[in-house]
Amino acid sequence: MGSEEIEGLLEEIKSFQASSAAEVEEFRVRFLGKKGVLRELFAQLKEADASSKKELGQLINQVKESAEQKIAALKNAGIEEGSLIDVLDLTLPGVAQNLGTRHPISIIKNRMCEIFEKIGFNISEGPEIETDWYNFTALNIPEDHPARDMQDTFFLQTNPDILLRTHTSPQQIRVMESTKPPIRIICPGRVYRNETISARAHCIFHQIEGLYIDENVSFADLKQTLFHFTKEMFGKETKTRFRPSYFPFTEPSAEMDISCLICKGKGCSVCKNSGWVEILGCGMVDPAVLENCNIDSTKYSGFAFGLGVERPAMLTYRINDIRLFFENDIRFLKQFQSA
Ligand code: PHE
Repeated sequence: MGSEEIEGLLEEIKSFQASSAAEVEEFRVRFLGKKGVLRELFAQLKEADASSKKELGQLINQVKESAEQKIAALKNAGIEEGSLIDVLDLTLPGVAQNLGTRHPISIIKNRMCEIFEKIGFNISEGPEIETDWYNFTALNIPEDHPARDMQDTFFLQTNPDILLRTHTSPQQIRVMESTKPPIRIICPGRVYRNETISARAHCIFHQIEGLYIDENVSFADLKQTLFHFTKEMFGKETKTRFRPSYFPFTEPSAEMDISCLICKGKGCSVCKNSGWVEILGCGMVDPAVLENCNIDSTKYSGFAFGLGVERPAMLTYRINDIRLFFENDIRFLKQFQSA
């Protein structure tokens, strides 16, 4: 038995046509019957030498699948008795098509983007492989700055200048370098950090970062934008709170928590009994960052924020393990209906 012979069988199945149920049955017996071709092929596979076993096994499985599909297709086409035309019943219900579903992360990401788009933010996407300048230096994180340790970085090969972006802020730099204010963008995308993988953390995750630069932008604008987002995304009753924080590229900086969607703020294992869940970091863009991009910091100011996608998705769908998002188990994925 060789792969050519099997490929011949595949061709034969592909071109097979039947005009009566008896012919379909004959075809079924020839391929799938007790003494059929497949039985024989699988028996021969046992004897095949180890190096070709994998390839032959896959081909034989293909023969099996295509024979089964052919038979199902011919049966669905209405070949029962007599000729096809005699029995074609156009009133029969159609064959249901299995439609794919959107990934839960995409559903939540799209919903988030839509909320910001409606209030005038444009989407801007950038590369996942970045240079040190865009990911760190332009963002006011010079070499040897301890803030680099906040983001455990994957470097590409041995060149420390090329890395997988640890946030989508580099895209904001790209836009600031090339666009005159006013700027109002959100940058969704995948980011990478060298973290130990657990139920709560992964080395790949998704962010949506926002940036607004214009004259007289204040912290009040930042708060109102995020209040609006929270109410639209998580419901009117959701509470928010800001805590002071530190990011090298914003000053002042804050982190924003929302009241836990699971226990409504009463305290549960998801919010570690605090009633609050952190969802984003934000702040007023540091003038040094504006100057790095040749934007006059005496004339313009702005705010920025960085939102994770996984945590809101876990809260929305009550998913308790972040790893599920990346395992591609169809039984998990098909539970999500896109809006
Ligand atoms: N880039 C930050 C991070 O990934 C998030 C952030 C964005 C914080 C914008 C403040 C302002 O950690």
